[in-house]
Amino acid sequence: MDLRIKSFEEYKAKYAQSVEKPEQFWDEIANSFNWVKKYDKVLDWEFETPKVEWFSGGKLNITENCLDRHLAKRGNKLALIWEPNDPKERFVRWTYRELYEKVCQFANALKSQNVKKGDRVIIYMPMIPELKVAVLACARIGAVHSVVFAGFSASAMADRIEDAKAKVVITSDGLNRGTKQIPLKRIVDEALESCSSVETVIVYDCLSWLPNMKPGRDVWWHDVIKDVALECPAEPMDAEDMLFILYTSGSTGKPKGVVHTCAGYMVYAAYSFQNVFQVEESDIYWCTADIGWITGHTYIVYGPLLSGATSLMFEGVPTYPDPGRFWQICDKHSVNIFYTAPTAIRALMACGDDHVLSYSLDSLKVLGTVGEPINEEAWQWYHLHVGKRNCPIVDTWWQTETGGIMISGLGAHSPMHPTHAGYPLPGIQPALLNQEGKEILENEEEGYLCIKFPWPSMIRTTYGDHERCKNVYFSHYDGYYFTGDGAKRDKDGMYRIIGRVDDVINVSGHRFGTAEIEDAMNTNPMVVESAVVGYPHDIKGQGIYAYVICNEMPTDPDFARGSIIETVVEQIGKIAKPEKIQFVSGLPKTRSGKIMRRILRKVAEGEADKLGDTSTLLDPDIVDEIVSGAI
Ligand code: PRX
Repeated sequence: MDLRIKSFEEYKAKYAQSVEKPEQFWDEIANSFNWVKKYDKVLDWEFETPKVEWFSGGKLNITENCLDRHLAKRGNKLALIWEPNDPKERFVRWTYRELYEKVCQFANALKSQNVKKGDRVIIYMPMIPELKVAVLACARIGAVHSVVFAGFSASAMADRIEDAKAKVVITSDGLNRGTKQIPLKRIVDEALESCSSVETVIVYDCLSWLPNMKPGRDVWWHDVIKDVALECPAEPMDAEDMLFILYTSGSTGKPKGVVHTCAGYMVYAAYSFQNVFQVEESDIYWCTADIGWITGHTYIVYGPLLSGATSLMFEGVPTYPDPGRFWQICDKHSVNIFYTAPTAIRALMACGDDHVLSYSLDSLKVLGTVGEPINEEAWQWYHLHVGKRNCPIVDTWWQTETGGIMISGLGAHSPMHPTHAGYPLPGIQPALLNQEGKEILENEEEGYLCIKFPWPSMIRTTYGDHERCKNVYFSHYDGYYFTGDGAKRDKDGMYRIIGRVDDVINVSGHRFGTAEIEDAMNTNPMVVESAVVGYPHDIKGQGIYAYVICNEMPTDPDFARGSIIETVVEQIGKIAKPEKIQFVSGLPKTRSGKIMRRILRKVAEGEADKLGDTSTLLDPDIVDEIVSGAI
C-alpha cells in the first residue's frame, strides 16, 4: 500500500531496476492492489500498431481500490474536504464511508436510468463534491466517463457528445465561479439540439434556478437517488476495459478523445501520487486543478483516493473574494501538500505580496506545479513566499496522454533545480531525439522529447480512431511515443521542458490546437482566412495572437475584433479567446500554399528583426505589411 521511495539513493536503485526488469518492477507495485482476478501477464506491447496491454487477464474495479478497501481501516477518515466558492458558505467534509455510500447510491441511480457497462456518460458539472461522486459512480458500474470542463461552450460540448456517442449527460442547473454564475443546464440544452445519442440528462440542483426540464429526458439528481440502496456491487472490469475518455487538443482538427483503461491507469495514478508528493497518512492534500482536466482526474479523484489520502477540493477561483483566497484555505484547513499551476502563481504574484504575507502557511510541506514551464521568477516567489524556503517544489511534467506524472522530483528526496522538471520517475524511460530521429545520448543537449518504453497509464487509443493515435504519437519516430514537447537535458541528466514543438498553444496550462481556433474563427461570416500563433504572455505563459483576413478590411476594427472573439467563445469557450487580432490582407505562404508560421510567431513575439529567410515566399511583400501592423 505504501508505494513510496524514501531517498535519492533508493530512487536510483529503483530506477535501474525498472529499466532492467520492468515487468518485475510493475508486478511488485500492482500486487498491492485488490484484484477480483489476478492478471496473467504484466505487459504485452509494440509501438507500431500501437498495441499496449498491461496486466492482461486481470479483473478489478478501480472504485473498490479507491473506496471499499479503505473502509475497515479508514472508514472514518476524511476522504474529501470541499471548500465552496463563497468563503461565507459552509464547507463539506466526507469520510471514506460517506463517500462510499454516496458513490454506491448514485451508481444505483445510474443503473435505474438504464446506464450499462461501456455506455459513455458526459459529465459537465461545477467543482462540487457531487462531481467526484458522478465520476466514481460511472467507474463503479463500468460506464465510461468523459468529463467536459464547465468552461467549454455548447458547441464544444456537442462535438464531444457526438464523438463519444454519449447516452447520458450529468450536469447542474448552474455554477458559481468567483462573482460569475454560468447556466450549465441551458448550455447542455443548446448542445443537445444537435445531438441524437443522449437519452437522459441528470441535473444536480446547485443554485435552485429551476431550469427547463424536458419531459422524458431530464431528471433531477435528488429524484433519481431516492429509493435506491446505499450498497452497489462493483462491476468487475477487465484490466484493459476503458475507464474514461478525456478530450484534448492536438495540432490538427477537432479535439481527440484520449482513452485510458482501468488497471494500468489505477496502478500509475497511485504510484505517482504517493511518490511525487510523498504523502503521509495524516496529510491534507490540495490540488487546485479542475476535474475537467487530466490533473483533476489523476490527482484530485483517483490518485488520492487510491492512496487513502484526504484531498481538498475547491469550487472557486484564486482571486475571489481576494487574491489571498488560496492561502486562506491553506491555513483554514491546515493543508500540507499544495499543487497548482504556474499561471495561478504568476497571477497571484502580480497582485502583490501582501495577500500571501498575511497568512502563516506553516502547515505546508510540499509544493507542486503542473501544466506549463515555470519561469524562474515565479518559482522563486512560490519558494520564498508560499514555501517560506522550507518546502521542496515538485515541477511535474506530464500530459493528458501520459495519464500521470512522468518527470518530477519526489518530494524532498530529489535534487531541485528551478525551471527543471528533474528526473523521470522509475518506470519511465524518456529519450531526446534529434531532427533526423536519432536518439541523443549526451547530456547538455536539447531535442524532441519521446518515451521509449511503455508505462501503465499511457494512452491506449484515441476514441473511435486508432489511426489518429498512431499518426499523432507513434509515427514521428519509429519505436517511440512522441510527446510534442521539446526538452533539454542538463549536465546532471535533469530534464528541462522547453515547450511544444508542434502547433499546440498552451494558454494558462490549457492546450489548444492552432487549427482548432482557426476553424472556429473562420465560421465568422466576415473571416476569409486566419492563422493563429502563440506569443509569450506574462501571466498566461502563452497568449493567442490571430492574423485574420476579412472579405474587406474592417472599417471598424474594434467591432470586427469583438465579433470574432464572440465567435471563438461560442465555438470553444472563453478560455480560447484570442488576446490579439491583427487584420491583414494576406498571409506569408510558400509557393505550395503552406503558411510560414515561423514568421508569424516572430512578429507576434516582437522579434520582427529575426525573421530569417523569406525569399521562398509566394509574396514576400506581405511580410512588410504584417510587421508594420503588428500589435
Ligand atoms: O507542453 C507540456 C505542458 O503541458 C502539455 C500537456 O498538456 P495537458 O495534456 O493539458 O496536461 C496538462 C497537465 C498534465 C505538455 O505537453 N506541460 C505540462 N506540465 C509541464 C509542462 N510544461 C513544462 N513543465 C511542466 N511541468
